[in-house]
Amino acid sequence: MGTGLLSRPGFSSGEASYRLTAGPARALLLPKGEPETALWGFNGRVPGPVLRVKRGEELAVTVENGLEQPTAVHWHGIRIENAMDGAAGLTQEAIAPGARFDYRFTPPDAGTYWYHSHNRSWEQIARGLYGLLIVEEETPPAVDREVLLVADDWRLDDLGQIHEGSLGSLRDAAHAGRLGNVLTLNSQDFLEEALERGERLRLRLCNCANARILSLEFTGHDPWLIAVDGQPVAPRPQAGPVTLAPGQRADLILDAAGEPGSRHPILAHTSGQTLEVGALAYAAGIRRDPAELGPVPALPDSGLPLPHLSSARRVELAMAGGAMGRMESARLDGEELGVRDLVDRGFAWSFNGVAGRPEEPWFTVARGESVVARIVNDTGWPHVIHSHGHHFLILEENGSLPADPIWRDGVLLERGETRQIAFVADNPGKWLMHCHMLEHQAAGMLTWFEVS
Ligand code: C2O
Ligand code: CU
Repeated sequence: MGTGLLSRPGFSSGEASYRLTAGPARALLLPKGEPETALWGFNGRVPGPVLRVKRGEELAVTVENGLEQPTAVHWHGIRIENAMDGAAGLTQEAIAPGARFDYRFTPPDAGTYWYHSHNRSWEQIARGLYGLLIVEEETPPAVDREVLLVADDWRLDDLGQIHEGSLGSLRDAAHAGRLGNVLTLNSQDFLEEALERGERLRLRLCNCANARILSLEFTGHDPWLIAVDGQPVAPRPQAGPVTLAPGQRADLILDAAGEPGSRHPILAHTSGQTLEVGALAYAAGIRRDPAELGPVPALPDSGLPLPHLSSARRVELAMAGGAMGRMESARLDGEELGVRDLVDRGFAWSFNGVAGRPEEPWFTVARGESVVARIVNDTGWPHVIHSHGHHFLILEENGSLPADPIWRDGVLLERGETRQIAFVADNPGKWLMHCHMLEHQAAGMLTWFEVS
């Protein structure tokens, strides 16, 4: 991909260090010959540089704020130490323009993660302030190479620039969030990936869109799913397109079994449309006979503790609001307000009757306690609920642990759906839980819990 990899000074000594400067960037998001788009990025790129660290090694990132507004960087999905979580206003003060912040942490799990702005993220992510964070396994699975695919959805105006007038639109916030009109992979309107018959690829997919749910399909291929939201799963054939809600990731093994010279579209299915966003384009040569590739390797288990359901703390997260919703009022900064007043202040949603980040935590648990959260989407829209600092399991409908546990940090609930998630609250600190449709988050869908 065009984003490249920074040098890794000190990598051999068990540390990777980077410097990220948030500031103006440009990218050609539209087809060749169209204008470039003025964006915000890290080190002038969108996506920002790929950060790589080996599991168990320390990652040190100095973030410099070259923007004219405060920022902060969140390491999405990392079971990080609380002070490094980047949740502006909760775990740190936002980084003022011209100032810097040193993030330093040792990621406990290998996998595909991402970093992004966590201040005015509805604007800062929409303008491009994000990148991939890859934590390598001590012994990575044998593949010929990795292909990183970062999806985003941009709303551009007639001149190919960010549609400024609709940034922060409460109308979008009360509906599906800010949906765009240009879909890109790695900031390209069409991504052509050259490959050779017989190669084994590891695809790392990440949906960085503010609000768009995407299903990616690699036509002509039968990829295997090996990880979800960074966490390994027992390898399984990926039946059909891979659905990624905003913030979600997936790792796939794709064996290149196409004929030399053939081309296979990469499709994105979204909101009833299908777009061709790229292609796998085979070279004339042959690397090896695909039959020689052997079984798909499993990733090492990350060993997350299974929650104890019988003794778990039981909590509920009830969503309300949005267009066609049934919210009549909600508490905002301690005051009960009707919908009209909420809307005047930029709020359209609530969690458990509270709009925006409450003063008091949603719940407090002792470190090591298990938590079962029942999440109820009684609204007219889908939502993807993301937790900071912890991965969780999605329980079976009858409330039992799944036979084949899949750990996630974001769960998609279609309208009308209810899900129970469970995890061991083993990471002390104050942790956000919010909708990763960033306009929903900004307009009220945000809470936090405390592990003491
Ligand atoms: Cu990826 Cu609180 O966010
Ligand atoms: Cu939402």
